[in-house]
Amino acid sequence: MITYNLALIGFGGVNRALAELIRDEPGRFSSLGFELRVVAITDLAFGSLVQREGIDLAAVLAMPRGHSFNDLPGGSADPRNEEVIKNSPADIVVEATFTSPIDGEPAVSHVKWALEAGKHVVTTNKGPVALQGLELGKLASSNGVVFEYEGAVMSGTPVIRLAHKVFAGLELTAVQGILNGTSNYVLGRMEAGLGLDQAIAEAQALGYAEADPTADIGGSDVRLKVAILANELLGTEIHPDDVETTGIQDITGDDVNEAMANGFRWKLIGEARREADGRVIAVVQPVALPAAHPLAGISGATNAVSFTTDLLGTVTVSGPGAGRVETAYALVSDIIAVHEFAKGAVRA
Ligand code: HSE
Repeated sequence: MITYNLALIGFGGVNRALAELIRDEPGRFSSLGFELRVVAITDLAFGSLVQREGIDLAAVLAMPRGHSFNDLPGGSADPRNEEVIKNSPADIVVEATFTSPIDGEPAVSHVKWALEAGKHVVTTNKGPVALQGLELGKLASSNGVVFEYEGAVMSGTPVIRLAHKVFAGLELTAVQGILNGTSNYVLGRMEAGLGLDQAIAEAQALGYAEADPTADIGGSDVRLKVAILANELLGTEIHPDDVETTGIQDITGDDVNEAMANGFRWKLIGEARREADGRVIAVVQPVALPAAHPLAGISGATNAVSFTTDLLGTVTVSGPGAGRVETAYALVSDIIAVHEFAKGAVRA
């Protein structure tokens, strides 16, 4: 059975959840035809660790925050990201550091170093995909490797792969979605009578919100996801700055109550659609949806996307859009895509 060596870049919630799956459920992977071995980890807090024969995941997962890999063989207090990404014996680099919505760094550099070194990259990081996804995809192709990023939109709910694989043969003309769990949760709690700030505090406590929740509430998180969907699924080349964006910060309790009294619900909607002249328009804005709309019943932190197709009309998929295990599953599905690619390369 083939073994893939992984380098985990970032050892926060998502990569730790992946490490736990590898530690606890090897059968999940062997039944797919491969084994996973973590040979490198880098992290701002822990430093870095490279062990060619495979890292003892139980031991590193048990290390409390505040400790460093410095005392372990192959360890350092320094993250050494560039050196580890370029020179560790990893076949697949798993990038799960924080997202910079401005320039995508340092993740963009992490991805470039890995692809240029001939390593596959899987990532949950929206920044590099939204800001430089097309260039990074070309860089992967020219180096004979793959760049996969299912978790950049709707965590493990496989909307990108679904649209590419299962909707083959259909023409997509629009995607419209609830793409931010925090804002959807907040709007639902406002329907229950909470104020905006109180509802945001709850979403933070539940772990849905970004480190800076203004990205959730102000719409910039959805802007990145809409740009990714527009580029991936509608074949355009837009930058997040091209997505006109309004968040939910100005929606009041009175707005919410008035909508409910008339059978409507406020939702933060991200949409990209192809116009009759071929141009793709992308917008993020709060919309009061009638009860019959397919996205009106999506509650809590759940996300959903409605695809407008030529032969099926509207198809709606809902599922988790955040969460450490849910997002780690996106990495698993990306690693399966790497395996499919590698099998094809061996056959060719
Ligand atoms: N903060 C995001 C959300 C997490 O609330 O949906 C996933 O991007």
